[in-house]
Amino acid sequence: MKVIMLGAPGAGKGTQAKRIADKWGIPHISTGDIFRANIKSGTSLGMEAKGYMDQGLLVPDELTVKMLLDRVSQEDCKEGYVLDGFPRTIPQAEVLNKALTELEDSIDYAVNVDVPDKNIVSRMAGRRACLSCGATYHVEYAPSKEEGICDRCEQPLILRDDDKPETVTKRLMVYHEQTLPLIDYYTKKGVLRTVDGTQDMEKVFESIVAILEG
Ligand code: AP5
Ligand code: MG
Repeated sequence: MKVIMLGAPGAGKGTQAKRIADKWGIPHISTGDIFRANIKSGTSLGMEAKGYMDQGLLVPDELTVKMLLDRVSQEDCKEGYVLDGFPRTIPQAEVLNKALTELEDSIDYAVNVDVPDKNIVSRMAGRRACLSCGATYHVEYAPSKEEGICDRCEQPLILRDDDKPETVTKRLMVYHEQTLPLIDYYTKKGVLRTVDGTQDMEKVFESIVAILEG
C-alpha cells in the first residue's frame, strides 16, 4: 500500500496519515516532521530548512528530494508507506514517479483532504504538536488527556513556529501556487481520490478507509 496525502496546510493530512499507518501497519513519512526533528537536534539540514519553514516557504527540492528517497528506500518501507507533505511540487512528484517506475512500482492512491482556506487559520491556531512522536492535537477538536502533554509519549506539546496567522496565510498562498497542480497531475494518473476534510476526524477516516479498501 503506497498512499500520498494531499491537501492544504492544516487540512488534516498528518492526523489521517497516522491513522492509516496504524491501521495498515506501514510507516507514516512526513517531510515536515523530518525537518522539525532535524531542527530540534540542530543538524545543518534542520538549520537550513528552518529559514524557509519559518517564512511559510517550501524548502528547496535539492534538500527535500534526497532526504525522502533515502527514507523510502529503508527496509520498513518494503510493504508500503503513507507520504504526508511530499510531493509538494510537480518536480518532486516527477522524481518520486521516476524512482518508483525504476522499481516497477507505483502509487496506489493520492488522497486529497479537501478543506477550504477559511477553515484553516482557526485549525492552526488551536493545533498542538509533539516533536518526539509526531502526534497532533487540537485544543478544541482533539485535546490531549493532560493539557500540554502528549498522550502517546508523554513529551511536552508545542505550538509550531509556522502556525502564526501571518505565516499560515503565506503557506496557503504557496500551497495554491506550487502544490495544487498536483491534483491535476494525480487525476491524470487515475489515482486521485478526494474526501471532504471539513467533516469530523472520525468521518474523514471512514471515507479514507472506504477508498483504500475499495
Ligand atoms: P508540514 O509539516 O507538511 O505542514 P503542512 O503541509 O503545512 O501541513 P500541516 O502539518 O500544517 O497540516 P496537516 O494537513 O498535517 O494537518 P493536521 O493533521 O496537523 O510542512 C511544514 C513546512 O515544512 C512547509 O511549510 C515547508 O516549509 C516544509 N516542507 C515539508 N515538506 C516539504 C516538501 N515536500 N517540500 C518542500 N518543503 C517542505 O491538522 C491540523 C489541525 O487541525 C490539528 O490541530 C488537528 O487536530 C486538527 N484537525 C485535523 N482534522 C480535523 C477535522 N476533521 N476537524 C477538526 N479539526 C481537525
Ligand atoms: Mg502535518
